[in-house]
Amino acid sequence: MTEQISSGETLEEALARATGILTDAGVPSPRVDAHLLAAHLLGEPVGRVKTMALLGAAAPAGFFELVAERALRIPLQHITGTAHFRRLELAVGPGAFIPRPETESVAQLAIDHALTLIRPRVVDLGTGSGAIAAAIADEVPGADVYAVEFSPLAHAWAERNLQPRSVTLILGDLRDALGEEDGTFDVVVSNPPYIPSEAVPREPEVAEHDPQIALYGGGRDGLELPWAAALSAARLLVPGGYFVMEHAEVQAPAIAALLRSDPRWETVLTHQDLTGRDRSTSALRTECANPGAPVKG
Ligand SMILES: C[S@@+](CC[C@H](N)C(=O)[O-])C[C@H]1O[C@@H](n2cnc3c(N)ncnc32)[C@H](O)[C@@H]1O
Repeated sequence: MTEQISSGETLEEALARATGILTDAGVPSPRVDAHLLAAHLLGEPVGRVKTMALLGAAAPAGFFELVAERALRIPLQHITGTAHFRRLELAVGPGAFIPRPETESVAQLAIDHALTLIRPRVVDLGTGSGAIAAAIADEVPGADVYAVEFSPLAHAWAERNLQPRSVTLILGDLRDALGEEDGTFDVVVSNPPYIPSEAVPREPEVAEHDPQIALYGGGRDGLELPWAAALSAARLLVPGGYFVMEHAEVQAPAIAALLRSDPRWETVLTHQDLTGRDRSTSALRTECANPGAPVKG
């Protein structure tokens, strides 16, 4: 049964009780989530909620309904309907992968490279909610940004986030999408599905609420889709173009080795996320002729 606000309960008391409920439910950051839920209901930033709590404000109506949902391990972002990614607040919900903080570092690499170019053409393969593509459109003035998504459900969320930012969104398979534009992009960025088939995530928020199609990369090592993204990047990029892709820490050596063994790539670099883990790899498309699939344009 959903707990209710006891009569006269202050915001501070409600936050403490909610933190206890979320702790008991195994939520990893119970206090933060309690504050974020209150902030969502009150329409105020968390800092202001803390001040209101200190000043003895009353708990908002409906607070414990949201706490009960979170205690069922429904992702916080599905309850609030929004996810923060770099400077943006994105619309998210069931059917779309919730953007993660580590992906902000991958977007940064793509943005840094795109900022060195005039009117760069950039494509995000497997865009999900549209997070990376939206961040690039937001932070790289003049960029011509494309995004590809296979899942119609995720595509619908991406449409909400990308249409206002003039990103060209394609419903299609990253393996063959944009074939008519091969050899025309300056930057290809991707956070593809990459979890190995047997590595089922433990957290209910991920296992039960992130779409399966967003998680599993295919094959025992999870590398089928990452490798497909690299193959597509090789055909989509101009000579000298930049490719960057997120992956699991354990996959870094295999991805670097695969790219180094392909003459279409040079300057293969592994990058760390903010916690120092090897979570993405970049490479430059070689200027030389492509033995497998000739570069156009
Ligand atoms: C790990 S999620 C990343 C989403 C988003 N880029 C982000 O970082 O938040 C991978 C995304 O790739 C999409 N996807 C899976 N297979 C695909 C395919 N063959 N072609 C295009 N997109 C695909 C999934 O639906 C999902 O949205």
